[in-house]
Amino acid sequence: MFEEAQYFAPVTADEDGSLKVHLGADHPGFADPAYRARRDALATLANAWTPGTPAPYADYTAEEHDVWRVVSEALVTKHRAYACREFLDGKEALALPIDHIPQLAEVSEWLEPLTGYRYQPAAGLVPLRDFYGSLADKAFWSTQYVRHHSVPLYTPEPDVLHEVVGHGNTLANPRFTALYELAGQASRRVESADALEFVSKVFWFTLEFGILWESSELKAYGAGILSSPGEIEAFRGMTIRPLDVGEMGSMTYDITDYQNVLYVADSFSQVEDVVGTFWAECTDDSIAALQERHPAHT
Ligand code: TRP
Ligand code: FE
Repeated sequence: MFEEAQYFAPVTADEDGSLKVHLGADHPGFADPAYRARRDALATLANAWTPGTPAPYADYTAEEHDVWRVVSEALVTKHRAYACREFLDGKEALALPIDHIPQLAEVSEWLEPLTGYRYQPAAGLVPLRDFYGSLADKAFWSTQYVRHHSVPLYTPEPDVLHEVVGHGNTLANPRFTALYELAGQASRRVESADALEFVSKVFWFTLEFGILWESSELKAYGAGILSSPGEIEAFRGMTIRPLDVGEMGSMTYDITDYQNVLYVADSFSQVEDVVGTFWAECTDDSIAALQERHPAHT
């Protein structure tokens, strides 16, 4: 079973068609009935979406907008200090609001002239094949709910802040979206579940948690680091290994905490050369050959 399934709370449908999100007892919103009602409402909203139409309007509460504002404000200086140039260029072009949560439909409109990417609302876990495959069509599956207000700095559950502040600013830069598209095409090319998981792990250690050197400074380009005001302060102290596709695809990782092993590129161009080329060319066979040289790593 692929690890990623674990951080999405299970979702079930009631007889009237409304969805229920089952938060675990250790979730910060578990004992907060208002938060749970919001999670159910936003899952139900996403579930009613019709493919090909704009993402549905989410009627966010003042408290949800506040969480967005607290995180976005904290990230202003942290991005300046620790985000790579290509992310900052995307952020400047997209110019997301800081004081309120934008609608996924609005962000899609803003991305349209920049790269053509658009957001599709997800009620919960989207199967790997669908999530990655859609990237080849410039569609990005996204949650709409907001992290609980008690944990603004980090959440193991991908929320709208991660999807829009972390990924959105990268989806505004064509150098990044070329990589997302290649990952999507790779996911459609490979046939075995094993090869697909390998492709997705390379995505994890690059577009989610990648770091690179820029003018002798360590910067982040991964959306998972760039959406977390906590993790962005911590990544420079982690175990840092050289970029290696075979090793990244064979690594196991813990999704519930800061990533303690990261892979560093010499530059954004090296990510394009090494990771972009891997996704452009990989097949079930080439991945099986890499796996043979890299037994499961920890
Ligand atoms: N930790 C990220 C944040 O605090 C969000 C997140 C949850 C995430 N799960 C993820 C990011 C998986 C990348 C991959 O914003
Ligand atoms: Fe992500």
